[in-house]
Amino acid sequence: MSQPRSIKIFDTTLRDGEQSPGASMNLQEKMEIAQTLVDMGVDVIEAGFPIASPGDFEAVREIATQIRGAEICGLARSHEKDINRAWEALKHSSNPRIHVFLATSAIHREFKLKMTPDEIVRRAVEGVELAKSFCDNIEFSPEDAARTEIDFLCRVVEAVIDAGATTVNIPDTVGYATPDHMKNCIEQLVNRVPNIDKAVISVHCHDDLGMAVANSLAAVEAGAGQIECTINGIGERAGNCSLEEVVMAMRTRHDHYRCDSRIDARRLVPASRLVSAITGLQVQRNKAIVGRNAFAHESGIHQDGMLKEPTTYEIMRPEDVGFASTDLVLGKHSGRAALADKAKQLGFNLTGDQLQSVFEEFKTLADRKKDVFDGDIRALIQHRVVGKVQEQWSLVTYQLDLPYQQTPKISLTLKKGDEDHSVTVTDGTGPIDAAFLAVTQITGIDLSCKDYQVRSSSLGRDAQGQVTVQVEYEGETHRGQAVSMDCIEASIKAILNSVNRILDAQQQPRGEVVDVKSSV
Ligand code: KIV
Ligand code: ZN
Repeated sequence: MSQPRSIKIFDTTLRDGEQSPGASMNLQEKMEIAQTLVDMGVDVIEAGFPIASPGDFEAVREIATQIRGAEICGLARSHEKDINRAWEALKHSSNPRIHVFLATSAIHREFKLKMTPDEIVRRAVEGVELAKSFCDNIEFSPEDAARTEIDFLCRVVEAVIDAGATTVNIPDTVGYATPDHMKNCIEQLVNRVPNIDKAVISVHCHDDLGMAVANSLAAVEAGAGQIECTINGIGERAGNCSLEEVVMAMRTRHDHYRCDSRIDARRLVPASRLVSAITGLQVQRNKAIVGRNAFAHESGIHQDGMLKEPTTYEIMRPEDVGFASTDLVLGKHSGRAALADKAKQLGFNLTGDQLQSVFEEFKTLADRKKDVFDGDIRALIQHRVVGKVQEQWSLVTYQLDLPYQQTPKISLTLKKGDEDHSVTVTDGTGPIDAAFLAVTQITGIDLSCKDYQVRSSSLGRDAQGQVTVQVEYEGETHRGQAVSMDCIEASIKAILNSVNRILDAQQQPRGEVVDVKSSV
């Protein structure tokens, strides 16, 4: 039997994924995700859109400089300024790729770009030629390709390959395509573009109709050699093709697709948890492959079948995608080595200092809680290491009086530098509102709360509460997260985490900010 075709996995969690509302990540978080992607075997990491903001530029530059083991890609509109900026950020990579895009559909040509088809072809070719003067590895995307007239799409694709594009990516920008449509589109390119063999065909599907994975697989069947996707399928609007789903579909149904990827599937669940913890975007319980219920059998008939023979109801084994066979882990007698081992299993690469800081908190937790589960460890690491920002404001103590159905009273003391600041607030509709009011009074940062979520990090009544808040400040959305066995403490700390993130962001250099969907 012939060898399965190897499909390149291009991960855009750090670029398109970051375009999910509220999912912006800081540099350290992006570095952590980039390393996880490399460890997992991703071929190409789209690290960001360097012209979009100074933060994006810095993230692409740092990832290009420090991360090895995957191609590092930066996005640019087909515009001199964008491409120069992308190269500035990417040039330190040992394996850089510039990704140039320009919309091609009639609707975008007419209403967004106000350019004729000839002008589009010229601009696309100029962009690719400029990018090619910097590096060999060039991807071109005709944005909204799935709604572009097929004759014009063939013309653009041929022209950009002639200009030096080594990958041509076919985006379904608005998630409009069906599997047949996508398959037909790729087949037409394969059959009608004379120089198509000089480039890899890629596909980039959005999930507005819930068909991103199916559309990507249909493109692969028709000859695409690269899939663009994100961890947990996060991305603009309804998101992108989910990496874990498309990878496992090819692997589990290789009898049908006859292709595979380099991905180490045992890293899928840890990567999913990491991205969810960092972005605050929770994974639905019934999500294929990585949802908490993906392998949970509830019905008696299913359980009976599973006990007799797992393959009666299971097409994949949970351990093959990275679910731990047992969740019960450490206790107060566990040492540093056991913690380091567990962190690794959960997909975190901790330095010596990070391990020490997590270990200290682990010991405190283990004193209060008999069984420390994977979820507890993950939450600690997330809090102490991954999502860490400079703690300008920290919690010293609080006291809450909460008489039944009466206005709460909260006394709060925070620390900034060496100074304590205290306030007592008797106001608010409940303890969380009161906490927001007290933090605002002390810090002077008036937050508008857009979302507040609390969930348990593990099993049992003594589980820690993981709190995520989404707040708006001066028109921008920020996130805050914290964990504690005391949910009120976790809530105050999550609010403070969002304040510290705002202060952190204010210290970053500010420059031009470009909307990714804006015209050229
Ligand atoms: O959805 C889209 O068209 C994109 C392009 C920039 C590839 O994200
Ligand atoms: Zn996209």
